[in-house]
Amino acid sequence: MTDIPRTTTDSGAPVESDEHSLTVGPAGPILLQDAYLIEQMAQFNRERIPERQPHAKGSGAFGHFEVTGDVTPYTKAAVFQPGTRTDLVARFSTVAGERGSPDTWRDPRGFAVKFYTSEGNYDMVGNNTPVFFVKDPMKFQHFIRSQKRRADNNLRDHDMQWDFWTLSPESAHQVTWLMGDRGVPRTWRHMNGYTSHTYMWINEAGEEFWVKYHFKTDQGIEFFTQDEADQMASADTDYHTRDLFEHIRDGEHPSWTLYVQIMPYADAAEYRFNPFDLTKVWPHGDYPLIEVGKMTLDRNPTDNHAEIEQLAFQPNNFVPGIGPSPDRMLLARLFSYADAHRYRIGANYAQLPVNAPITDVHTYSKDGAMAYRKTSDPVYAPNSKGGPAADTAEFGKPPTWHTDGDITRTAYATHAEDDDWGQAGALVREVLDDDARDRLVDNVVGHLLNGVTEPVLERAFEYWTNIDPKIGARIAEGVRAKADAKDPKAADQGNPARSSMQHKA
Ligand code: NDP
Ligand code: HEM
Repeated sequence: MTDIPRTTTDSGAPVESDEHSLTVGPAGPILLQDAYLIEQMAQFNRERIPERQPHAKGSGAFGHFEVTGDVTPYTKAAVFQPGTRTDLVARFSTVAGERGSPDTWRDPRGFAVKFYTSEGNYDMVGNNTPVFFVKDPMKFQHFIRSQKRRADNNLRDHDMQWDFWTLSPESAHQVTWLMGDRGVPRTWRHMNGYTSHTYMWINEAGEEFWVKYHFKTDQGIEFFTQDEADQMASADTDYHTRDLFEHIRDGEHPSWTLYVQIMPYADAAEYRFNPFDLTKVWPHGDYPLIEVGKMTLDRNPTDNHAEIEQLAFQPNNFVPGIGPSPDRMLLARLFSYADAHRYRIGANYAQLPVNAPITDVHTYSKDGAMAYRKTSDPVYAPNSKGGPAADTAEFGKPPTWHTDGDITRTAYATHAEDDDWGQAGALVREVLDDDARDRLVDNVVGHLLNGVTEPVLERAFEYWTNIDPKIGARIAEGVRAKADAKDPKAADQGNPARSSMQHKA
């Protein structure tokens, strides 16, 4: 035979044939002793792991982050010290669609980065939008269900999406953003990434700051119109996945410049917006962008399952100098992701090469299914046998803030300018130009005509009128005019719930 490798069993022994099962004569039965055939069938039956509950469709690549600015006054994190270069892996995704769903459905995009820092893994699990639909984790699960599929016909349904949104006015800012041009990025290379949440930074002196990250694309922002997105959804379901892979393969390495907004710790109490409310931005005029460095993606995965599907981001992966804030969505996320990984991948997911840190691991976690890292004695702490010991003094002050009050179930305390509509209205009136506003109206009208029924429809008109009276009037007019014209095409616009109207009939 030639110099290509011999097929082996999973245990490394040579196999007799890639083509023929072991049988009793050419027409006889297959033998149970054909262990290689059984290994092939059994492994095949176990190839799939559960897809991510949200963010199932996506892909990613490896690269590095290089610090070009000086943020040492705000954080002591090694990854952000001047001149530091850190390897990383990033994954981009849609939120609601399943693993095989089109890349160009209108949806926020996940923008997740795992930095393999000299102090352990630091995960920044953000989106391509600076805000989110809800501000309390109690509503997150319900929100995601409203974007997925109905129980009866297993179809996505704009009626339930708008039912949830219009009963959750805090969604207005994110929905406005979603229905605008940025709701369908042209490619993952042409979108920004944001932490969305506020985090805490701590400097060498122990001073604390509130921080928001903005990864601005160096390729420029580009988007698809709804028509272009619909066409692409059928022409190339995996367009964004392909685009990223092929550009990196061909040496066109996409990059993003990271900026931060820094709020002094004491500003938070009296700031005009609640700085921890995930449905609000900090206007740039209040807290300008400060450059940190550049993220570049330059290496494709070679095994998408091992390196991307089993990639496990967790917002609780912090390093010294970076911590959480009182944003209750973020605090809930600190639990949720590792829990998801234990179910989706297995108890020892952190030991897989793509999830393992570059630092030595000295943990008292041990055993469990598929344990790969060896455990050594002593297996308990405290001990006097030379086992690892935390150095609380060296670790320094943990991220902290003052809090006091009775245990309660209430909304956030509001700040002077907190309301659900103001920043959404600013986006419509002050950021979008006339053409972008026209496309926003068209996108919303098309979406509403696709299966949204009364009384949800009337509530949707009120919702948009609260955001901006002129836009609200244009949307109501657009829907009524098209509905009156009984234009069959009007009812057929927009993926993904084309037949939900039939269901309602
Ligand atoms: P600025 O004029 O300083 O910033 C406007 C921001 O809007 C820029 O970050 C710009 O991003 C972004 N933007 C431009 N076009 C669109 C679009 N079609 N859809 C979504 N975002 C877009 O104003 P402010 O900081 O005072 O914010 C005004 C409004 O802008 C906010 O209410 C919010 O809705 C929106 N916004 C604000 C952000 C912030 O962090 N302050 C971030 C993103 C949006 P870019 O420069 O990359 O083009
Ligand atoms: C994925 C929970 C809010 C960004 C996930 C997953 C869960 C989850 C369980 C799947 C994880 C996996 O199986 O690997 C939650 C909860 C939230 C929340 C409970 C609120 C309480 C957010 C917000 C953002 C976000 C606000 C962005 C700012 C992401 C991203 C992924 C993801 C990017 C995909 C990560 C990847 O590529 O593997 N989320 N999420 N999530 N979430 Fe959230």
